Amino acid sequence: MTSPTVSGTQAPALSLKGVGRRFGALQAVRDVTFDVAQGERRAILGPNGAGKTTLFNTICGDFPPTSGSILLFGEDISALKAYQRARLGIGRTYQSSLLFDGLSVIDNLYLAIRGARPGRFSMVKPGRDNPELARARELAEMVRLGHVQDRLVTELSYGQRRQLEVGMAMGLSPRLLMLDEPAAGLSPIERPELSRLLRELPRSLTVVLIEHDMDIALPMADRVTVMKDGAVVVENTPDNIQTDPMVHEIYLGHRRQGHA
Ligand SMILES: Nc1ncnc2c1ncn2[C@@H]1O[C@H](COP(=O)(O)OP(=O)(O)O)[C@@H](O)[C@H]1O
Ligand SMILES: [Mg+2]
Repeated sequence: MTSPTVSGTQAPALSLKGVGRRFGALQAVRDVTFDVAQGERRAILGPNGAGKTTLFNTICGDFPPTSGSILLFGEDISALKAYQRARLGIGRTYQSSLLFDGLSVIDNLYLAIRGARPGRFSMVKPGRDNPELARARELAEMVRLGHVQDRLVTELSYGQRRQLEVGMAMGLSPRLLMLDEPAAGLSPIERPELSRLLRELPRSLTVVLIEHDMDIALPMADRVTVMKDGAVVVENTPDNIQTDPMVHEIYLGHRRQGHA
């Protein structure tokens, strides 16, 4: 599929125009406007409660924004359901893991490639030269689980499960990969492995990474957007973000409260 173009230029992978989300009296996301170029890696930083996950959910389609619009490769997807957005190329991880515990890594990836979801699939053992099985092996390597591809999910470490979740999100060959705190809950030993995996994702893929941990977010990002109280407060390159006084205040103030 070719992307809609405006006077010969490439449409952004993702375009947020005045996106807001209200929960009753609470304005969780307010007037968020930014573009993510095709192939760009964008990190979204911010303290707890900044509205990052709410923004993520309006992009993925868990619920619509209450104001503004969201364009995917130039197409307005604001009113579409999550499964329709997935079909148009948004891949995402789920906070509550959607792994098939009793199956192996490779079988999980195979099912993700076939678009299966828990509760509605029939496991037909693929032949050795099945192209989807070959793709599953490729994905296992991509998420750095090639050496444990025949292990059951129940035999994986917590960190390996998170790696597999990224692999599952890649199953339908998305054009935009959305990740919400993929390193949350990982031990200091597990974090570099996930960080490396993220840095090595194919460059053709557009990635939006929501991440509280700057050590994970900054090395993989081309640009960084910082949110606070539902709004974007800073957008800059990773280098400039590290020296931005506003970001320092947000993060250091936050650390003093003992949450980081
Ligand atoms: N489904 C919801 N219903 C009501 N309030 C919500 C809901 N989801 C998030 N919120 C509120 O919106 C604000 C932003 O939350 P969230 O997007 O989870 O922030 P972050 O991911 O940056 O920590 C918080 O005050 C949170 O309590
Ligand atoms: Mg969150």
